[in-house]
Amino acid sequence: MRQKDNAPYSTLLRAESDETSSFSYIEPPFNFNHSDVAVYPAEVSGYFLLKSLSRRLRWDGLTGKRLLDFGCGVRFARTIVNLGLDIETYSGIDTNPEPIEWLRGNIKSPRFRFDHFDIPNAMYNPHARSVDAGILADAGFVGNDAACMFSVITHNNPNEAKKTFDMLYPCVMNGGAMYFTAFVDESVSDYIERDPTFKGHMCTYNPGFLLKMLSESGWRVSDIYPPSELAMTAFVCWKDVESDV
Ligand SMILES: C[S@@+](CC[C@H](N)C(=O)[O-])C[C@H]1O[C@@H](n2cnc3c(N)ncnc32)[C@H](O)[C@@H]1O
Repeated sequence: MRQKDNAPYSTLLRAESDETSSFSYIEPPFNFNHSDVAVYPAEVSGYFLLKSLSRRLRWDGLTGKRLLDFGCGVRFARTIVNLGLDIETYSGIDTNPEPIEWLRGNIKSPRFRFDHFDIPNAMYNPHARSVDAGILADAGFVGNDAACMFSVITHNNPNEAKKTFDMLYPCVMNGGAMYFTAFVDESVSDYIERDPTFKGHMCTYNPGFLLKMLSESGWRVSDIYPPSELAMTAFVCWKDVESDV
C-alpha cells in the first residue's frame, strides 16, 4: 500500500539548539599520564575511570552530577567533550596554568569551569606560597556532588595531602563524596617517599595513617578498591550530613 504524501520539507525541518546534540572535538597538546596508561587513547582510560568512579559512588551515571576535578590535567575534560558525556558541571583545578589556559580557550560550554591555583606541591609547584584551606570554596567551588583526584595524592606528601583534603571538604555538598587514588603499602610506617631521588614522585602511605588523616579532615571512608591496570588504590570518602543530635 502506498504511504500518504509526506509533509513538505519546510514543515519537517527541525532546529536543535541543545548543546549536547552538536559535535565537539578537542585535542589538548598535553599528556600528564604515566606511559603505561598513555598507551591508550585518553578517552579510553578517561571513560573507564569515570565509569568506575560513578559505579563506586553508586551513581546511575554522570547525568545531573556536579564534579570537581582537583589536579585535573586534561584527560577528563577531553573525555567528556569528545565522547559527548552528559554531566551537569565539570570543574577542573590545576597548579599548572598552561592546560588550564588551553581548556578555557577551547571549551566554551557553560557546563565547564577551569581555574589555575598556585598551590604548593614539592613535585609540581615547589615555589608556591602556602594557601588557605578555604581558597577553593572562596572562589565559588561549592555544592559539588563529588570531588575527585586521579594521580594527585600519589604526588602529595602528608602536609600537602592534609591541606588538599581540607580544601576539598567545603567544596562538596553534605552527603557528597571525595574519590581519589593513592599509593598505599601496609608495610610502610605512616609515610615514605618511595623514590627518594625524585621528591613527590611516589608518595606512599600506610593505609591506616591515610585513614586517620581523612577522619581528621571530616571524611568518612566507605570503600577502598585495590589498584588496577589504569589506576592506583582508590578511596571512596563521604561528607556526611551533620546530625542535630
Ligand atoms: C599525574 S597528573 C594527573 C592528571 C589528571 N588527574 C589525570 O588523571 O589525567 C597530576 C596533576 O595534578 C596537578 N597537581 C599536582 N599537585 C597539585 C596541587 N597541589 N593542586 C592542584 N593540582 C595539582 C598537576 O599539575 C598535574 O596536572
